[in-house]
Amino acid sequence: MLNIIKVKGEQLFNETGAGIIASLLQSNPRAVLGLATGSTPVGVYQKLIELYRDGVVSFKQASSYNLDEYIGLAEDHPESYRRFMNEKLFNHIDIPLESTHVPAGNTGDPTQAATDYTRLLEKAGQLDLQLLGLGHNGHIGFNEPGEELQGPTHIVELDERTRQANARFFPSIEEVPTHAITMGIGSILQAKQILLMAKGEDKAEIVARALKGPITTKCPASFLQTHPNVVVVLDQAAGGLI
Ligand code: F6R
Repeated sequence: MLNIIKVKGEQLFNETGAGIIASLLQSNPRAVLGLATGSTPVGVYQKLIELYRDGVVSFKQASSYNLDEYIGLAEDHPESYRRFMNEKLFNHIDIPLESTHVPAGNTGDPTQAATDYTRLLEKAGQLDLQLLGLGHNGHIGFNEPGEELQGPTHIVELDERTRQANARFFPSIEEVPTHAITMGIGSILQAKQILLMAKGEDKAEIVARALKGPITTKCPASFLQTHPNVVVVLDQAAGGLI
């Protein structure tokens, strides 16, 4: 079931997302969170840091599992998702770093790393909440559109459109990794609750396809329509076509 919330302005967008995560932690301090990178959640993480500093929320007993990681970037590479998470969230809150998990993209054996992450997720049990951004091509995590989708954590070749979109963070497109490890659609859909967030006019078309279009592997986010508990937070621009 999709519960769609449209909000006006960046501040309310971030407050709404952070508010959903904070109330979960207030009712369940040991919540297991699935987290995302990309530009969409940055303001949400800032708001969560503020709530932590104000004593409204604590992450001390929580744990987190990130969706994805580039293959071949060292953990301290400026664009690795481990570094992103440390800098944008973990270093500023009270979550023990050992309770945070990001797939290992730089071990030299990505297939084994993907298998290890699947095991880790199985051990963690059901995620209480999975936060998601939405790619312009309908990807969630790095589950790119195609003829079929995979359930568990796996290796993906990044879509050219995804590499172009992410090139803004790298000195040149050649330096954007070609492959990533991502949680699969199966793991994502197993979360108790999913929080999908999208902002900006450039996301309006894919938001409409994902939420109102046919359920198809050509738009991986369309599978969210099959989940019993999805909250979608959109700004007015991203929600412009629904
Ligand atoms: C990031 C991720 C991706 C992004 C998506 C949107 O961990 O899994 O699916 O959520 O590419 O990215 P932004 O938010 O930068 O538009």
